[in-house]
Order: sequence, then structure tokens, then C-alpha cells
Amino acid sequence: MKYRLISAVVFFAVISLLRAQDTPPTAATAPPKPQGPAPLSPIDSKVRALLAKMTLEEKIGQMIQYSPWKSSEDKIKGEIAQGKVGSLLNVFGAKEANEYQKIAVEQSRLHIPLLLGLDVIHGYKTIFPIPLAEDCAWNPDLLAKCAHVAAQEASAAGVRWTFAPMVDVSREPRWGRISEGSGEDPILGSALAAARVRGFQGARLDDPGSIAACAKHFVGYGAPIAGREYNTTDMSEVTLREIHLPPFKAAVDAGVETLMSAFNDLNGVPASGNRHTLREILKGEWGFRGFVVSDWASVQQLVAQGYAADDKDAARKGLWAGVDMDMQSHVYGDYLAELAKEKKVSPRLIDDAVARILKVKYDLGLFDNPFTDETKEADLTMTPGDLDLALQEAEQSIVLLKNDTVGAKPMPLLPLSKDLKTIAVIGTLADSQKDPLGSWHCRGEDVMDKVSTVLSGIRSKVSKDAQVLYAPGVGTTLDTATDKALAQAVDTAKKAQVAVVVAGETQDMSGEAASRTSIDLPGRQEEMLKAIQSAGVPVVLVLMNGRPLTIPWEAEHIPAIVESWFLGTQHGNAVAAVLFGDVNPCGKLVVTFPRNMGQVPIYYAQMNTGRPDLGKEKWESKYIDSPNTPQYPFGFGLSYTQYDYSNLTLDSKTLKTSGTLKVTADIKNNGLVAGTEIVQLYIRDRVASVTQPIRKLMDFQRVDLAPGETKTVEFALPASKLGFYTEQGKYVIEPGPFDVWVSKDSADSTLQGSFELVSK
Ligand code: BGC
Repeated sequence: MKYRLISAVVFFAVISLLRAQDTPPTAATAPPKPQGPAPLSPIDSKVRALLAKMTLEEKIGQMIQYSPWKSSEDKIKGEIAQGKVGSLLNVFGAKEANEYQKIAVEQSRLHIPLLLGLDVIHGYKTIFPIPLAEDCAWNPDLLAKCAHVAAQEASAAGVRWTFAPMVDVSREPRWGRISEGSGEDPILGSALAAARVRGFQGARLDDPGSIAACAKHFVGYGAPIAGREYNTTDMSEVTLREIHLPPFKAAVDAGVETLMSAFNDLNGVPASGNRHTLREILKGEWGFRGFVVSDWASVQQLVAQGYAADDKDAARKGLWAGVDMDMQSHVYGDYLAELAKEKKVSPRLIDDAVARILKVKYDLGLFDNPFTDETKEADLTMTPGDLDLALQEAEQSIVLLKNDTVGAKPMPLLPLSKDLKTIAVIGTLADSQKDPLGSWHCRGEDVMDKVSTVLSGIRSKVSKDAQVLYAPGVGTTLDTATDKALAQAVDTAKKAQVAVVVAGETQDMSGEAASRTSIDLPGRQEEMLKAIQSAGVPVVLVLMNGRPLTIPWEAEHIPAIVESWFLGTQHGNAVAAVLFGDVNPCGKLVVTFPRNMGQVPIYYAQMNTGRPDLGKEKWESKYIDSPNTPQYPFGFGLSYTQYDYSNLTLDSKTLKTSGTLKVTADIKNNGLVAGTEIVQLYIRDRVASVTQPIRKLMDFQRVDLAPGETKTVEFALPASKLGFYTEQGKYVIEPGPFDVWVSKDSADSTLQGSFELVSK
């Protein structure tokens, strides 16, 4: 503890020295003290000892990461043997991993093992739902288990480092990478970020089944202007600290070993050259002791961003800002030695970076166990246990958006009866094994034949006598949308008692470099839905997509809508389990669905404005052509049962700034089937020196309820969490009046209370 304190003091001293500088330091202005970790543990001592033996070239080698392409393999192998490469990404399979590792360990002078990284985002071969979907389960424990399975499969293939979790908060549905994050809320995002880190890194990082995690992309990447990929971000210090930094802080607190610096320009300073966020906040304020890897060539991109004059200048600024490892841009390899010799970069910054990288390698146990057991790779992937977990996670990720009755029938359209005689399944997405994998599906395509589709899932559920008719319909692009395909879909639907129409986006329409200006159902899918609906067939719409979509017509006219996102290997089995009622859906949205693109950005935690929309007069903050409200709010999701919320109690009407408020409410399952309700706790700070949102999620719980059962849910609300950041980056807790809700979603006001926060 004492040593930690000393180390923190050293960190802060160095940081305050760095803070005084506005430009990258020359050697003369470089910090006088080493920034490397103090010798706190046996690992730190080993790092120190190894560092002392290294030449400048070997040190810089540790700071370099390459992705071997076929053409560059021999060159890279040669450089590894000379100790000039510390890490590789995109090496596939235990055999190949061992081949590279053998060169590093046996041929390089100091035998330092390589760190092999890969984008294991939502599974290695067993593919789990895309993160945006997984997060709709609001189930950190299950999420951690899934991440650990991914870690086990990946490490069995020689990968000991994943570039995940992506913890970028995003309120921008045009941005394709929203699919890879936890949605719009920083508190929920923090809980899920920590869970993923725990899952990937396991109980012990040096266990061969654990892998180092990498929280990315630090920071602000989720707020690109106009939703265009890689675009500039511009935000206040308050927004940065309230919205975008918390999940990174949670990942750091959970012990994440690495972070990735982002592509975006942040308030005029690119994230991969941003000393304020990297050195001052991350390594200074938060005391992060792991290392920072750049995003793909993002250090070199400082040139295109107009922040560095040339590649050499980019290398200097990247290191100065706090990027320890250069992913693929070659600028550290090409220029750091020269810059050091010219005294344009401080050797101490190099030592600090290398010490951080070596520490992670020691933490992973790579010096003792650099190789992977090739005989176990196959046995450790896609085990029945992995597949069961993937099914459970997929089922919990599904969000039921609408479930109305059809005609005079008293019961809602879903769940469907397994005794139906004819079911039509429509849509190319219904029969696709690739699309359920979503973006970043790692090695999922190698075992694509194991992916269940909606069509195969439905076939496996219905009785033997039932007829499942299939028509691909119009597809997702205009190219495939012929009149004939549309007519055939309608004809097929007409022959059935119910039509399950699977519509949405293909897997490559979200993810990296997949921004859209319109987020409606692409192609002629809506036209097809309208035609089937007007033919009088009851329609269940199953959505597959990697972002919120605008579906105002469907929301009004289609009786049942199931949001299935991209659920991975078990997609079809999970969807069918929900459609036929084997599973009662419980997922809730982690991102707002707008009614139209004009509302974007739209999110629940808005400010009140001076003229809130009270529906009283024209001069209010609203549109003349659309309601302010979203199509579906954050936190929303239906079930096959109903939950009643009652008896909100607060254990006191006043809360001391040193205290904790107990908030309880009764939740009753008022229906005929068991279910799990995700109960949400929100607050509003009514008066503050920095205006606060009309609602802020503080906590949540998943509550299992048998039919007729009531449970009292209890939340502890510590006053220490009721503060906020000022523009000076200071966290303050101000006494004053607060509202509190225990609710089904961010728009539900059934249970509302209030209390006063008072000093001490
Ligand atoms: C992405 C990162 C990813 C990296 C390596 C980049 O283009 O932005 O998220 O980890 O590539 O594949």
C-alpha cells in the first residue's frame, strides 16, 4: 500500500511536470525523472533488470507491432530474430503462433517473447451476439463468462491479447461501429466494460486460458461528427468526463492490461497524439500501469490530420503523447532511434513505454510459457458448453419491441403455436449463415456451417406435420429487389397462417467503415412488408441489424416486432426459442431507436433546456414535423408477461453527502409465464452548477419472477455517486433536490420519488 502511494506520488509529480508543456518536449525539456513504474513487485524488478540489458534498438523493437501479410512474412521473421518486433497481430492458429514465438524466444538476443494480438470481439470461433446485442441482456456475469470462453478459444490458438472490449459510448446510429459497443449510457457501459475485462483476463492472467484485454478506442471515437467513420469529435471536458471516459475508467479499475488510442481528432488534438487524455488523465490521474497501443497506423495518421509535419514528427508526437506501441504504421521503427540519437525524444519516455509492455508480457506469464499446446486447439473450441452459453446469451440479447393482438384474437400474436400448419419465412437474411455472425466475427467464418439461421431454427421447433415455406424476397439491396422476388414473397406468405419476415441489414452494413446516412430498412424491404401485410397475413417482423433503425411504419402497422440484432452461432435457435415461447424475451435496448434521422443524435439523458416540450405552445424545444420522443426509448423491451411496479420507498427524505440512500420497490409478475425483468434506477439532479440530464441511469438489476410472484428490489444509492464533473475536470457533489425513479425503461414514470442531498 505504502509503495503504491509512493508510486502514485511519483506518477503525479511527473505528470504535473509534463502538464506544463504545450509542445512535444525536446530532450532539454523532457521530464527529468523516469516515468516507469517503481519497483513494486517481483514483476517490476524483472522488468527493470531486463530493461537494463536492452539496447536502444531492442527497446524500440518492443514498441513495434506488425501484421504479417504473406508478402512480408520473411522480412518480419528476420526482424523478430534481431529483436526488432515486440508484437504481432493477425496470426492465426497455434502452429503459426508457435512458429513466430520460437524465433523470438530462441533466436533473439534477449529471448523476449512476442505478444500476439487479435480482434477477438464477440467470440473466436463460437460467435456470441455482437456487443450491442449482448449488452441488451444487461447481464454482466453472463457477459464475463462469454468473454472467458472467447479467451479460452483464442488462447488455444496462440492469441494472448484481444483488442476488446470496445467501450466507446455512442449516441450516433449512423456510425457503423455502434454495433461493437455498449450503446449510449456510460454507467451501463462501465458495468459491461468491467465484466468483459474480467472475462477475458480471467482470475489469473498467467493462466494459459486468459488473455489480456484492450479497452478501445481511447477516446471519443463514438461521437464522430455527422456519424461519419473516422470523423472528428468535438466535445466539452464535461461531456468527455461524464459520457466518454467512464467505461475506460471502469476497465482500468477492473485491471485492464492495455488501451488502444483512437483514430479521431478530439477537440483539435488527435486521440493518438493527445497528451491530455493519454498522459494526464489515463497514466496520471488514473495511475494506469499497462500500455497503450495505437490503432492501426493512427500514429502515422497524425500527418494526414495536420498534427505532425511528417512521419518522423508523428513518431515523436505519438510517443510524447503516451502511445507506447505503434500498431503497423512503422513510424516508431523507422524514426525513434534516430530521434533518440538526435535527443528529440527522451530515452526516459522510451524506457517507460518498454517497461509497460514488458510488464504485460510478464503478467501474462509469457516468459515462462511462451508456446501454445497445438494438440489442444481443436478440443478447446466450440465445445458443447461453449455453444450452450452462446445460446443462453443470444436468447437474453433479443428485445421484443412490439406484440399486439391480430383481429379479434384475445392473445398477442407472439408466442406462435408450434402446432401451426403453415408458416412462411421470408427474407434472404432468414437463410444466411454469414449475417448472424455480425461484424468482427474473428474465425467464425471457418465454422459457418455451424451457424443456425432463423429458417433452420424455425424448422427445428415446429411439429413434423407443419409446412415451413421459404421465399428469399427482395433482399437488402436494390440490385436483388426485383418485382418477381417481391411477388413471390407475397405469394408464399399468402399460403401461410403467419409470415415471419426477417428484414434489416447484412452484417457488413455495420461495424468499421460502415456509416450510413439513412438508417431505414435498406432496399425494398419495407415495400415488401407492406405488400405482405396488406395481403392479410399476420406478420412477425424479425429485425437483424447492427444499429438502431428508423422503422416508423413497421412500428405502427406490424403487430409483432422482434429485435434480434446479429446473435452469432446460435442466432436461429435463439430466435426460434423466443418466437415459439420456449424462452420469454427479457432484453432491453441499450440505445434509443429514433423515429427519423432528423432526431439524431437522440438519447434519453438529455438536458431539459430552458423551454422543454410541455405540449403547451409553439415556443418550446421541439420539431414542427415530428414528436421529440423516440420510437423506442433506452431501456425498453417487452416480455410475454407483464410486470407491475409499486411501493417505491426511500429510507429517508434526506441523504447526507457521506451517506447512502436505500431505494426499494415491489415488482410483480402479473402474467401467466415466468420471466426476468430488468429493473432500472434513475435519478435527476434538479439544480446544479453544471446542468444535469433529465434522467441518469444509476443502477439496474435482473429479477427472476414466477407467475404471480412479487419481489422487493433494493438499490443502494451512495451520495458519492451523485456528483458530476465541472469543465475544469473536477468531480463535485453538490447538495440539493433530486428525483429518483425505479422503472421499466428510461421513459417510464410510474414510480417516482424525491429526496434532498444535504451536506455531511
Ligand atoms: C480498428 C481497431 C482494430 C484494429 C486491428 C482498426 O482498424 O479500428 O478496432 O483493433 O484495426 O485490427
